[in-house]
Amino acid sequence: MSRPIYAHIHTDALSHNLERIRQLVPGSKVWSVVKANAYGHGLEAALKGLSLTDGFALLDLAEAKTLREKGWTGPILLLEGLFSQEDIFMVTDLQCDCVVHDFNQIDWLEAFSEARSSNRLPNIYLKMNTGMNRLGFTPAQYREAYHRLHSAGYELTHMTHFANADYIDRTPSVDQQAELFNQSREGLAGGTSLSNSAAILWHHHVIYSDWVRPGIMLYGASPSGRYEDIQEAQLQPAMSLHSEVIGIQHLEGGQSIGYGSRYRTDVPIRIAIIACGYADGYPRHAPDGTPVWVAGADGLSSGKVCLMTGQVSMDMITVDVTDMPHVQVGSKVELWGKHLPIDKVAQAAGTIGYELLCAVAPRVRRQ
Ligand SMILES: Cc1ncc(COP(=O)(O)O)c(C=O)c1O
Repeated sequence: MSRPIYAHIHTDALSHNLERIRQLVPGSKVWSVVKANAYGHGLEAALKGLSLTDGFALLDLAEAKTLREKGWTGPILLLEGLFSQEDIFMVTDLQCDCVVHDFNQIDWLEAFSEARSSNRLPNIYLKMNTGMNRLGFTPAQYREAYHRLHSAGYELTHMTHFANADYIDRTPSVDQQAELFNQSREGLAGGTSLSNSAAILWHHHVIYSDWVRPGIMLYGASPSGRYEDIQEAQLQPAMSLHSEVIGIQHLEGGQSIGYGSRYRTDVPIRIAIIACGYADGYPRHAPDGTPVWVAGADGLSSGKVCLMTGQVSMDMITVDVTDMPHVQVGSKVELWGKHLPIDKVAQAAGTIGYELLCAVAPRVRRQ
């Protein structure tokens, strides 16, 4: 008998969310972003649910290899490109496309192009830094980078990444970044790749690119952290994190619960001990009052939100079920998912859905 915690991955929700993206940006091809083990969902489930995508974008060659081994023959884009000169051999073996954001990578790619005999050259996504100021060539460097790769025989697509597509009042705005991008690549041949989830959701009327790069919206969580976004955009959560009650405590007024005795009772309460802790990826900093969905007498769909009471431990959390007398050992619980939006839990815990999803630990079964 294994611990009752598991992540149910709804591959039908992944397919549905991809279809919603197609409706929002019908003229664009879709790189489904599956880095970080498909935002915690597992590459196998992603491949199943997103089999109709145009390509998968990720970071690690090991993940690219897994996709190939599981039968994916379509395009794969490495979002940070080569980390070392030797990577190029695996990149070509696995037939990946490559982002280029740095002159070192251009040196390596030029050397490879000169020395190669019959290897196919990877397609290049040349990244322009239009204001995010993480990776990419400045607009002043961009033409030189483009011409060097073009002369070395590479096919190029122009790419940038938005910093503020989920804000209306921050700069650089999507419009400012897009304008700089368009000016700086004027006259240079090649397709484009711009939009992440937030740009697809909130700027699809004004921003077009040949390839979009959605991540979080595929998984049914919000780029902004507002849980209402998901309903408004008609997206579905792709992960439900389930567990069970493994103990019940009856406490008198004036007692405390868990490490540090953070929660003290004023009145008698009934506490459910749930098999889920920070070693499963649940945020240790979640405060008292963080919502947890506890099944009703007829199961999860008749359940309701109960509130966390006491510090998250490595393997357990504690929840007030005083007004749910039917709850007993074995009662089902949803930490987030179909009944409890992940963005609500993230908000209560002072984080975002991205972090919660990616943090789900390897010891949690995906099902
Ligand atoms: C370059 C790039 N494109 C697209 C994405 C997907 O972003 P999101 O998950 O916000 O859609 C990411 C994620 O960080 C990224 O780094």
